[in-house]
Amino acid sequence: MRDINQFTITEAVKRSFRAEDGSRLKLLLEAFIQHLHDYTREVNLTHAEWIGVLNFLYDCGKISTPERHEFILLSDVLGFSALVDMINSRGGATEGSNLGPFYLDDAPRLALGADLGKDRDGAVLLVQGQVRDTLGHPVPGAVIDTWQADSAGTYPIQEQASGQDKYDLRGIFTADDRGNYWYTTVLPKPYTVPYDGPVGRLLRAGNRHAWRASHLHYIIRAEGFRAITTEMFFENTDYLDNDAVFGVRRSLITRLEPVKPGDALPPTDRKPDAKCHFDFVLAPAG
Ligand code: BEZ
Ligand code: FE
Repeated sequence: MRDINQFTITEAVKRSFRAEDGSRLKLLLEAFIQHLHDYTREVNLTHAEWIGVLNFLYDCGKISTPERHEFILLSDVLGFSALVDMINSRGGATEGSNLGPFYLDDAPRLALGADLGKDRDGAVLLVQGQVRDTLGHPVPGAVIDTWQADSAGTYPIQEQASGQDKYDLRGIFTADDRGNYWYTTVLPKPYTVPYDGPVGRLLRAGNRHAWRASHLHYIIRAEGFRAITTEMFFENTDYLDNDAVFGVRRSLITRLEPVKPGDALPPTDRKPDAKCHFDFVLAPAG
């Protein structure tokens, strides 16, 4: 230890931890230390830069509340969340994408064909599709948990102060015996991720915007299958190629089509003006 220098310190720090040989913790710790030290040597980090990073993280902690997790936002804009989604997506299954901060685990259970927008004004969108397994078999009874922004790009949960119902524009559907689901809603608009804090400063410093492409959020669950957290996007809408949190995947983009007279549509509480179709594919659990 006494002859430690900028090249031997990495091994010394790794050895100072005594996590069990072969354990996941040992792997995670040692790789992290190695990459952190390699980065520091590679960029010749100055003291001012070092304290700047630590103060930035401190600011992320200071602005965080139970409702606002600035570190998750940081992970999102750095593509860290998306990378974890990509690594953990299963071949053949629907690709994963951002959970985002607005999920509630107790959304109302709704019947197929219900209107998520609770009779909001504006164009009514029919969303329909099937939940299948990776062999193409339907998954009857799959649970489709969805939430979204409104046609102004706001989540009702953000507007509770002005009297909005936080459970509006969210619901849980159960697919029918052929794995089919359908409901109506409003088309969400793009919106910005919060940029009034340290992550916003980072975006501005890097000349980046804070906009997300318009999307619907989903968690799809079924007994015996790996749950999927993902998002659905719409062809020919803004920010598909520069979504602030790198959530867009080609396979998650669907087409919006006007409803034409004579279209065969499933029964819905509201008559749709437009429609889109998206099938979810689940991989087996384990
Ligand atoms: C969202 O999709 O709701 C979201 C994702 C990341 C940051 C903020 C919002
Ligand atoms: Fe969202």
